[in-house]
Formats: sequence, structure tokens, C-alpha cells
Amino acid sequence: MKLKGKKIVLAVTGSIAAVETVKLARELRRRGAEVIAVMSNDATKIIHPNALEFATDNEVITEIRRAEHVKLLGLNGIADLLLIAPATANTISKIANGIADTPPTLMALTALGSGKKIVVAPAMHKAMFDAIADNLAKLRDLGVEIVPPRIEDGKAKLASVDEICLFVERSLYSKELVGKKVVVTSGSTYEHIDPIRFISNRSSGRMGNEIALECWRRGAEVVLITSKPLSYDLPNFRQITVRSVMDMLKAVLDEVRDADLFVSAAAPSDFTVDMAESKIKTTQELTIKLKMAPKIIKEVRKVYDGHIIGFKAETGLSDEELVRVAEDKMEEDKLEMVVANDVKEKGMGTSDTRVVAITEKRKEWIEGLKSEVAERIIQIYVEDCL
Ligand SMILES: Cc1cc2nc3c(=O)[nH]c(=O)nc-3n(C[C@H](O)[C@H](O)[C@H](O)COP(=O)(O)O)c2cc1C
Repeated sequence: MKLKGKKIVLAVTGSIAAVETVKLARELRRRGAEVIAVMSNDATKIIHPNALEFATDNEVITEIRRAEHVKLLGLNGIADLLLIAPATANTISKIANGIADTPPTLMALTALGSGKKIVVAPAMHKAMFDAIADNLAKLRDLGVEIVPPRIEDGKAKLASVDEICLFVERSLYSKELVGKKVVVTSGSTYEHIDPIRFISNRSSGRMGNEIALECWRRGAEVVLITSKPLSYDLPNFRQITVRSVMDMLKAVLDEVRDADLFVSAAAPSDFTVDMAESKIKTTQELTIKLKMAPKIIKEVRKVYDGHIIGFKAETGLSDEELVRVAEDKMEEDKLEMVVANDVKEKGMGTSDTRVVAITEKRKEWIEGLKSEVAERIIQIYVEDCL
């Protein structure tokens, strides 16, 4: 519920991608926002306002009658943000040139003048996208967030619903991590026995991925080093896909030197295996020698003296024992913060978790969905360590 209590004006213009806005409106509401839809005349020829009335549970504005633009996005307007999605070449160019002759363009100029946040998600043919580059740049200079479209098949296609929601969340978030580079690891690693078999663990990568997104929302430049990459394509959010623990270590050492924070949320293998060149025959019992893998945090500490958040997964410990193990790790690896959990009940591969977060200043138990736990972990880091 990252948009809880927020009021979003969703302006829909005459692109075929308007058909996606029913899903978009519902997803914004699922994340806690109230949504008020505004449509251009051309948008109403592509989807009927009734569809958006149903999706938003609010009356749709297709015509300005009672200064709705001022009420919503004026200086004392009740809305928090204007999202124009999809934004046509026509609407973008009008806004950039101060024209306000449709409900979406009128909302946009009002929002610009009163300093309200604006997010624009363009959708059009690539040729049109290239032709309006200067107008888009003008909007960017005015502080408008542009959600990059996906360039595919000669088109600049509307970004995914999730990507647009992430941009909206980032626009409304506090930005404590602006100017900071954060390197995050997530997921398991794969230690290959032969070309088709490997040793791994149940880590889904969800916790680390949520931490990476949380840092991005707060303005950081994020590098996510993972075996389970996200499907998003976000600016200032680079993903490096790795397989083995040695791949992960190399990528971390390459990236961490100029970082401000390293979050070691992955569950890399503790062992490596010498890989056979071809598939091992299954005719007899097999003994595999497991060799100790290097500990990523310890290797990082040799070359990096910035902040580190470490994770510790244990099974079968009492809460007190878990806290003691975590405190030992914090001291041994000189961590700013350690997050520990007992993964026997939940944590590995589940969508929710229960962890204890420890800093110099506090010990706090956190339970909930991994997205909620990640938000709290980074909030504690910001409060206690920045
Ligand atoms: C079916 C259909 C699909 C369209 N798709 C797009 C589009 O994806 N992007 C775009 O910029 N214009 C598109 N157009 C053209 C716009 O609708 C046209 O430029 C219109 O003037 C936009 O008005 P508005 O910006 O006020 O909605 C499309 C037109 C039609 C009929």
C-alpha cells in the first residue's frame, strides 16, 4: 500500500494504449491510491468513460465545467500527482508549448504552475516519438518525470503497468538516497556439477529485489546483482545477472568500490563444485567434493569501507539466539546493520517473512510482506545510519 492516502489524477489521451488504463487504474488503487480519471475527447473514442468510471469508482472528467482542474491540481488542489498515461505526441507537445485546450492539457498546465508532481508515460509510433524529442526534453526540464516507453517493432510502446506505478511511487516518496550508489545482491546462486545439473537453494530473490526497488524509490542509483532479475527497465536501476557465487563475487567487487551502501541480501552458495565438462553418467553412485566458497561480505570488506547491510538466515534458533548470532556477525564484519531471520518457518521462497533488524541504536522485529519489510529495513537504515 505504498500509495495509501494519495489522490492521483489519471489523464488518458487518444492513444490505442488507452485500453491499458483500466488495469493501470485498478493497480494504482490496489496500491492504496484514490484515482480520478480525466479523458481527452480522442481518448473517449478509444475507450468508453464508463470503463474508467468502473475501474476508478469515481466520476470521469471528460469536460471541464466547474474548474475541476483548479480543485484538483491548483495551488490548494486536493490531488497529490497528475499521471498522464498514455500521453500522445499531441498532448505532450501542447503542454510543452503552453496550450490547454483539452481536460488533460488543462490539468497539466495547472499542475505545472502550482508545482504539483507530474508523471508522463508516452505511447506512440517511434517516428512520432523522435519528432517530439525536444518537447519531451522541455517537460523534463520543467521537472516532469517521463516514464521511458519500450522501443519495439518501430513503436514507442507504453511502459508496463508496474513500471508506471513504480514511477508514481518514486515521485511521491521522500528522497533520502539521492546521489547515493547502492549495490544490492539477491537470490540464490547455481553451482554447476555438469552442464545441466547444479546445486542451489530455495532463495527467490524477492527480499533483495524489494530492497533494491525501495532504494530506487528513495532516489538512489541502484545496481542489482542477482540470479533472479526483475523484468523492469528503469533509469538509474542497472541489473547484472549472475549464476555462480564466483560470478556474484566478481560483479560485487567490480561495482562496490564507488558505492555508498552495499546490501548483501542474496543467499549465495557456501560451497563451489568443480564442474564436469560433459553430463555425468548415471550408472553408479556419485561422490561430489564441495569446496568452501569465499564469503562475499568478507571479500568486500577488504576493499570497501562504506556502509554494509548484511543478512543472516538461520534455522531452529530461539529469538534470543538469533539476535546473538546476528550481533556477532555485525561486529565481525563491521556492518552498519544486520537483518536476521529463521527461515525454517518462512523467508526462503515465501512472499512474507519475519526478521529482526539490528543497528547500533535498535533491535526491531518486523513481520509482513517482503515489500513491507524491505521498506521498514531501509527506513531504519535512513534513520539510524545516514
Ligand atoms: C486508433 C488510434 C490510435 C492512436 N494511437 C496513437 C498513439 O498511440 N499515440 C499518439 O501519439 N497518437 C495516437 N493517435 C492519434 C491521436 O489520437 C491524435 O493525435 C489526437 O489528436 C490526440 O488527441 P489528444 O492528445 O487530445 O488525446 C491514435 C489515433 C487513433 C484513431
